[in-house]
Amino acid sequence: MAAPSDFKPIIVGFLCNWCCYGGADLCGVSRFQYPPYLRVIRLMCSGRVDLEFIFRAFAKKADGVFIGGCHLNDCHYNPEGNYDALGNSIVAKRIIAAVGVNPERLRLEWVSAGEGIRFAEVMNEFGAKIKSLGPLGSSEGREVADLQAGLEAATQLVPYFKLVERERFRVKPRTEEGYQKFFASPDFEPLFQELVLDKLTLGRIMGALRAGEGSGAGSAESVAQKLGLDTAEVARHLSLLSQQGMVKIDGSRVELVLVA
Ligand code: FES
Repeated sequence: MAAPSDFKPIIVGFLCNWCCYGGADLCGVSRFQYPPYLRVIRLMCSGRVDLEFIFRAFAKKADGVFIGGCHLNDCHYNPEGNYDALGNSIVAKRIIAAVGVNPERLRLEWVSAGEGIRFAEVMNEFGAKIKSLGPLGSSEGREVADLQAGLEAATQLVPYFKLVERERFRVKPRTEEGYQKFFASPDFEPLFQELVLDKLTLGRIMGALRAGEGSGAGSAESVAQKLGLDTAEVARHLSLLSQQGMVKIDGSRVELVLVA
C-alpha cells in the first residue's frame, strides 16, 4: 500500500553523546538539511540501547528507530559498547521481523562528531525509506494492535533474551567481520530459532489466548490468523504448551482453554 503523500513519519533516534549526537549538532550548526522527523534521545553510548527501548519505541507507534554510535573501535566505553549495539541491532531486527514489523524500520549507523554532512545524508536516506514504507503496519499489511501485542510479548522476554545473548551469542573476535560471520553461520540459525524465536512464539500464543474474547479460548486456526503464523506451527507450540499444562486442548476442534 502506498504511503499517503502527507505522511510525516515519527523516527525515534537513540544517539550516542560522544559521536553521533555531536554529528547531529554539527549538522544543525552547518545548516545541512535533513527531514524534521527525528525525535532524539541522547545516551552516553550506543551500547546502552536496550532491546526493550527498541520494542517499546515501535509499540508506541514509531515508524522508524535509528541508533547512532561512534565508529567501531572508537567507542568511549568498554571500549566495545558499540559492538554490543551491533549485536543488539542484529538480534532486534530478527525479533521485530518475527512479530511482523519490517526490519528495515530499524537502522544502526556509525557517525563521528565531525561528520555533520554524513549525519544529514544518513537521515535523508533513512527518512526517505521510512516515508516510502508508510506508517507502521501499512507496509506490513498488519493491524498496529496486533504488532503491538507481538512487541509486548517480545518486551516481556527481554531479560531472557539478554541472558541468551550474553551466554550463547558470544562473538569472537569482536570485529565487524566477526559479527557478520557469527550471525551468518549455519550454526546460528537453529540456535536462534530454538532459543529466541520459539520462545517468542510461545509467548505470543499465550498472549493471544489471554486476550481471546473474554473466554480465554481459541483454536489453532484463529490464533495463527491473529498472529500471522502458520497453523501447523501454532498447533506444534500448542501441543508443547498442553504437555506443560499451560493450555487444554479440547478434542478434535482444537479448542483451547488457558489453565494457568
Ligand atoms: Fe559512542 Fe560507545 S561511546 S558508541
